[in-house]
Amino acid sequence: MKSSCGTRFAFLILFLFAAQSVEVYAGSFHKDVQVHWGDGRGKVLDNVGSLLSLSLDKFSGSGFQSNQEFLFGKVEVQMKLVPGNSAGTVTTFYLKSPGTTWDEIDFEFLGNISGHPYTLHTNVYNKGSGDKEQQFHLWFDPTADFHTYSITWNPQRIIFAVDGTPIREFMNSQSTGVVFLHKQPMRVYASLWEAEHWATRGGLEKTDWSKAPFTAFYRNYNMDGCVWANGKSSCSANSAWFTQVLDTKGKNRVKWAQRNHMVYNYCTDKKRFPQGTPPQCS
Ligand SMILES: *[C@@H]1O[C@H](CO)[C@@H](O)[C@H](O)[C@H]1NC(C)=O
Repeated sequence: MKSSCGTRFAFLILFLFAAQSVEVYAGSFHKDVQVHWGDGRGKVLDNVGSLLSLSLDKFSGSGFQSNQEFLFGKVEVQMKLVPGNSAGTVTTFYLKSPGTTWDEIDFEFLGNISGHPYTLHTNVYNKGSGDKEQQFHLWFDPTADFHTYSITWNPQRIIFAVDGTPIREFMNSQSTGVVFLHKQPMRVYASLWEAEHWATRGGLEKTDWSKAPFTAFYRNYNMDGCVWANGKSSCSANSAWFTQVLDTKGKNRVKWAQRNHMVYNYCTDKKRFPQGTPPQCS
């Protein structure tokens, strides 16, 4: 009697520990993604699948994609970007649906010459139309260490966050004039590629191939989402991310990031939108 009770107690404790570690970190690059591009340039580096590297040389970049598709979710990963002269390289982490009228939610890191800041480029595509860029210079050196980048995508909003600080909120409401991203399941993708022309203000700086291969690291991948399979999505709608909103503190963090670290905002680009900025900007 006593021992069975003790055993049960031990199981309970074990269960609690397991549940907790699932909360903190559940993903594995071995289980959850496949390196689908780059001919050996992308690699999982450890047995548990917590660390992955992508590399880029003159001949090819590399990338991975999630095995599953999701309709809503919160995905996060830690990244350590290409150090030194990374001009012309772009390191990405994003969600995307297939087809010609695709949806997409992007984090793209545009490299720079040594000593100059990376640009964190964010964008949202609905039905194949992007043009919603906001760009930031981060408040730390993203090549010196791992930092956490997350995308929360729920029926009401998309939240981009850096180390838990929300830097952008994109609302899912018809009143914003955006047909929101709520119909097309997306996969998670990451890549390291060369975009000299786009990423360096029209090829202003050349990629220094003598520094190749360029390598970026991804760690502690985790996707908690509604898995899409056979035309249906299944998820536990009581996950915190599913109903996540930005409270006053969160909204103030976004304001802080935008006031101090934003370097481009499509919403204030009057030259680009002479007829007035898109409705979701107001
Ligand atoms: C590179 O750094 C300069 C500032 O020194 C900045 O103006 C430019 O936007 C940066 N380029 C990229 C691609 O991040």
